[in-house]
Amino acid sequence: MRLSVIGAGYVGLVTAACFAELGHTVIGVDQVEEKIRDLNEGRVPIFEPGLDEVIASNLRAGRLTFTSDTARAVRDSDIVFISVGTPAKGNGETDLTAVVSVAEAVAEALPGYRLIVEKSTVPIRTGERIKQVIALVTRGTSAFDVACNPEFLREGSAIQDFMHPDRIVLGVESARAEELLRELYKDFDCPVLVTDLTTAELIKHASNAFLALKISYINAIANICDRAGANVRLVAHGMGLDRRIGRAFLDAGVGYGGSCFPKDLAAFIRIAEELGYDFRLLREVEQINAAQRELVIKKLRDTIWVLSGRTIGVLGVAFKPNTDDIRHSPALDVTRRLLQEGATVKAYDPAALRNFSREIPEVATCADPYALAQDADALVVLTAWDEFRSLDLARIKRLLRRPVVIDGRNIYEPAQLQAMGFVYRGIGQ
Ligand code: UGA
Repeated sequence: MRLSVIGAGYVGLVTAACFAELGHTVIGVDQVEEKIRDLNEGRVPIFEPGLDEVIASNLRAGRLTFTSDTARAVRDSDIVFISVGTPAKGNGETDLTAVVSVAEAVAEALPGYRLIVEKSTVPIRTGERIKQVIALVTRGTSAFDVACNPEFLREGSAIQDFMHPDRIVLGVESARAEELLRELYKDFDCPVLVTDLTTAELIKHASNAFLALKISYINAIANICDRAGANVRLVAHGMGLDRRIGRAFLDAGVGYGGSCFPKDLAAFIRIAEELGYDFRLLREVEQINAAQRELVIKKLRDTIWVLSGRTIGVLGVAFKPNTDDIRHSPALDVTRRLLQEGATVKAYDPAALRNFSREIPEVATCADPYALAQDADALVVLTAWDEFRSLDLARIKRLLRRPVVIDGRNIYEPAQLQAMGFVYRGIGQ
């Protein structure tokens, strides 16, 4: 099929690249000319495992091209995906400026029937709004459908998630739209759920909010474990063996971050409010999450007493492993608090240091975990990168001024570190 994907961010690029990989002809669109030039030359502006290769091979095969010409892309495709940014406004509301302006541009270019599919995570009833915008611009003269096909991709494993989804959700309003999308996804081996537009939008919001709730739930349990002397990892294991609960998203730690959960939760709470429902449960989820950042500071203070004048090594600044993304990363909050307390902070991360320095330039960056440990008064683990699990801990201990490890992701075995002579504090264990 002929597709265009408007918006070359994380979701748009992965969507465009993977559909091309599946044999479709895909045009990626973005208004930033420089990005388009880079992409056409195979330079990918984001770090996502495997994405460079998929983009390069599909560029070579001629199935994938990039342009800033929306009108041409719309003309040359049967289905147009909108996956532009939907940033949060200060009050939790979602800024739909980009979505609306893309809808207008698509409407102005409509040459005949096109299926327009929202792929960005958007507040419920945005599909309705896109429909209204297009109808207004075309004055009701063009045939089109709007559908919602939410993505459930995780950064760091987005290609795998795209190719092997748990489910595909299609929010449609006509048989024609359903037929086109079913055809597009016909080779996928997973349940396909067809709903109305608003229900599909809500499935996305409800899923992300539930996952965030699971994380805050286990973090609340971790706080009980700390007080009662129980082990949250074993509690999570024991709970997860119940198939109704499942083990995923029960890793206690410094809390969730990223471009999705914090923003989606705030937006969902806001939408609920607009609809006349006070979603107190989700406000509590947010509060528990925020408190986990502070908990790391507290554990540090309980261990080395004074933070002012100390040097703290932050191990991991990405909001999770396998990404260079630091948006809403716990490391931002924890570092700012440490600086506020008068500590000197240095940081190491395998991928996200450049982004981190842009945000907090006063933090010294280190070339590896050992340089980070050198003369630090404590190490604070904030991202569960695999490479941190296999560090030479004896060497780390020799390099540290004080052998203190605050493990905000529970990646180490408490007994092992304690036997080595570390002062070790995990979360709920
Ligand atoms: C999330 C969802 O998992 C995707 O399904 C969804 O498509 C995406 O948001 C989106 O809305 O676009 P993502 O933000 O990439 O994906 O990351 P996750 O893997 O879900 O992790 C989110 C945060 O939760 C990370 O900071 C991670 O460290 C934290 N987390 C995750 C925990 O603290 N504990 C856990 O057990 C799991």
